Amino acid sequence: MGVISLVYSVISFLLELWVFILFTGQVFFEILYKFLFPPELKSLDDEVILITGAASGIGRQVALQIAAKARVKLVLWDVDKNGNLDLAGDLKRIGVEAFPYHVDLTQRSQIIEAATKVRQDVGDVSMIINNAAVTYPQPFLESSRKPRNLELIFKTNVFAHQYIIGEFLPKMLENRKGHIVTVASVGSFSSTAFLADYVGSKHGVHGMIESLKDELARDPFQPDIKFTTAFPYFTKSNLSGYNNSTLVRRYPFSFPMLETSAVARYIVNGIRQNKEFVYCPGYFRVLAVVASLLPSKIVRAAKRLLTYEVELDRTYFESIATTPLPAPITPLPSPPPAPAKNGTLKHKPLVPPRVPVQPGS
Ligand SMILES: NC(=O)c1ccc[n+]([C@@H]2O[C@H](COP(=O)([O-])OP(=O)(O)OC[C@H]3O[C@@H](n4cnc5c(N)ncnc54)[C@H](O)[C@@H]3O)[C@@H](O)[C@H]2O)c1
Repeated sequence: MGVISLVYSVISFLLELWVFILFTGQVFFEILYKFLFPPELKSLDDEVILITGAASGIGRQVALQIAAKARVKLVLWDVDKNGNLDLAGDLKRIGVEAFPYHVDLTQRSQIIEAATKVRQDVGDVSMIINNAAVTYPQPFLESSRKPRNLELIFKTNVFAHQYIIGEFLPKMLENRKGHIVTVASVGSFSSTAFLADYVGSKHGVHGMIESLKDELARDPFQPDIKFTTAFPYFTKSNLSGYNNSTLVRRYPFSFPMLETSAVARYIVNGIRQNKEFVYCPGYFRVLAVVASLLPSKIVRAAKRLLTYEVELDRTYFESIATTPLPAPITPLPSPPPAPAKNGTLKHKPLVPPRVPVQPGS
C-alpha cells in the first residue's frame, strides 16, 4: 500500500510538473507576443474610479490625466478638504463627474462611512487607486520615541489599503471584474536611511497586494480582477519634502527627481495596458534586478553616490546613545513608565553609551 501511494504521488508530481513547464512556456510566449504586438490601451470609459490622496501631487495628476482621456466618474478621497474641492471644481469645469469626499484614512470608521456614501451617491467602484501616503523622515530610534508618526504612516500607507479594498472588493468579486491600483514606491524593494518606517510600510503594502493576488488566483470562480502596482522614484511633491529640502543629492548629474505629471503618465498608461508592475522610470526594473544580485555594501555605496538621501545632522549619531528617552507622545498601553523619585519620568536608553569613532582611528 505504501509503495503504491508513493508511486502514485511521484506520477502525480511529474504530471503536475509537466503542466507547470507548459504553463511557464505559455506565460513567456504571451509576454513576448505583447512586447512585439502591444495591445490597444484599454478604455476607462464608464469606470467608477476611486483615487485616494487626490488633492495634490501624483494623485491629482492621475485624476486630471484620466479625466482627459475617458468619460468616467471620479471619486476623490483626501484629508485635505480644500485641495480636494479645488480638484473637483477643475474636473467639473472640463465636464467630468467628480465626487469629492473628506476622509481621514487613518480612521477606519471614516473609510467605512465614506465607502457607504459612495455606494449610495455614485455606485459601485470598479477601480481603486490607492495613492495616499505620508512620511515623517526620522532616525529609526526616533520612531520608538514618537510612535505616533510610526502609527500614522502604517495606518495611512498600509492599513487603509486593507480597509478600502475590503469595502469594494466584494462587489468586484460579485461582478467578476475590477482593477486595484497601488501606488507603492521604489522603496518597496529598496531601502533609505532615516525613512525606515515609510520604507517598511511600502514593503508591507507591496507584500500585502502580492499575497492578495495569490489568494485570488486560487479562487475557483476565477474573477477577472486586475492589479497594477506602481513603483515611483523620488518625485517632486509635498511628500518628498521637496519644499523643505529634507532630501539632498550629492551630485547634480545623479538621478533627478521626477515630476508628478510624468509619474502620473507612467501610472495611467500602466493601468490602460493592464500592466502588473509599473516602474517609474521604466529602467528602474533593470536596476532593481542588478541591485538584487550585487553585495549590499556595493548597493549602499551606489545609493550614496547616485540618489537622494535624507539629510541629517551628524551630531545625532553622537548623542543618540546617551540621550534618555523622553515621555512618548502617544502613551503606550503597558507597562506605564515608572515615576522616578524626583517626580520626572525615567526611561532606559535603548542602547548603551558608545564613543564616536574618530576619523583615521
Ligand atoms: N513623492 C515621492 O518622492 C514619491 C516617491 C515614491 C512613491 N510615492 C508615492 O506616491 C503617492 C503619492 O504621493 P505624493 O508624492 O503625490 O505626495 P503628496 O503629499 O503630494 O500627496 C499625498 C496625498 O495624500 C493625502 N493624504 C495624506 N494622508 C491622508 C489621510 N490620512 N487621509 C486622506 N488623505 C491623506 C494628502 O492630503 C495628499 O493630498 C504616495 O503613495 C507615495 O508614497 C511618492
